[in-house]
Amino acid sequence: MSFTLKSFAKINWQLRIIGRRPDGFHELCTVFQTVSLCDKLFFEMAAEGVELSCDDPALPVDGQNLIIRAARLLREKYGVARGVRIHLDKLIPAPGGLGGGSSNAAVTLLGLNRLWKLGLQTSELVELGSVLGSDVPFFFYGGTALGTGRGTEISPLPDVAKKHILIVTPDVKIDTARAFARLNAPDLTNEVSKSILKICREEAESLYTGQFNLVNDFEKPVFEIAPVIEGVKKKLVRSGAESSLLSGSGASVFAVFNSKDKIRKVFEEFTARGPGRKKYIAETVSRSAYADLLGISQLSQ
Ligand code: C5P
Repeated sequence: MSFTLKSFAKINWQLRIIGRRPDGFHELCTVFQTVSLCDKLFFEMAAEGVELSCDDPALPVDGQNLIIRAARLLREKYGVARGVRIHLDKLIPAPGGLGGGSSNAAVTLLGLNRLWKLGLQTSELVELGSVLGSDVPFFFYGGTALGTGRGTEISPLPDVAKKHILIVTPDVKIDTARAFARLNAPDLTNEVSKSILKICREEAESLYTGQFNLVNDFEKPVFEIAPVIEGVKKKLVRSGAESSLLSGSGASVFAVFNSKDKIRKVFEEFTARGPGRKKYIAETVSRSAYADLLGISQLSQ
């Protein structure tokens, strides 16, 4: 038995970092969005073991890769004797602030639940996913969604109207933990975290009118670490983007354009000027399209 699943990237329309939690992680309030840029994962049943191959030789295919970690977690937790061979066609830049590794982990859990006929509910996979990484649970929902807590508490929001997006990833690797550390966020008690998050969630839900006020608290520290990223954002704004923002902790910057023709033109300009950068034309993927493409039922909460 074998099949292929797409593994989509995300951007963040908003990313607010509220403070440091007692567990060392940061309390976030973020609005995630799935986009059409995607990797492909090919699953094939094997008698035993977990094997990963990838078309990109720069990517680790051992226990550092979240695909292997997701597969091992599932096997250990549910005592699975059978194995799998997985091949990854990698297009989402990693790392890049686009959630590629987290998306791959979520799709691995979904794919193996199907391949190994485990019969697990998606809600159980969400729990497992949150152990693998803070962005993983979102990829069981897709579309437009609010993420709070570590980023793992997901509340779906109405989908934004379809938008055309240009993503530019400069050739810089941003260490997420280092970007968090540079924020010098205040320490929070559990109680304070809860009350701030309540306000944050209410604000995001009430302010939402199909258009977000784009903001990412990582921009300041990340632009300090790598000014080249701020340069990319400035170029995108100058080229006529409706709006532009760092995605996650970077290094990718995305820009929203009002027409496909305009995007194509700006894409070519970036091609001409910056051979070291990666560039992608994408569009937003709604929650229902995401669920259809992955063959899952939509989660409401
Ligand atoms: O959960 P994930 O593995 O993606 O997180 C990577 C690193 O980012 C963590 O080790 C932690 O240093 C930082 N992080 C954080 N607060 C979050 C999410 C991540 O401090 N909510």
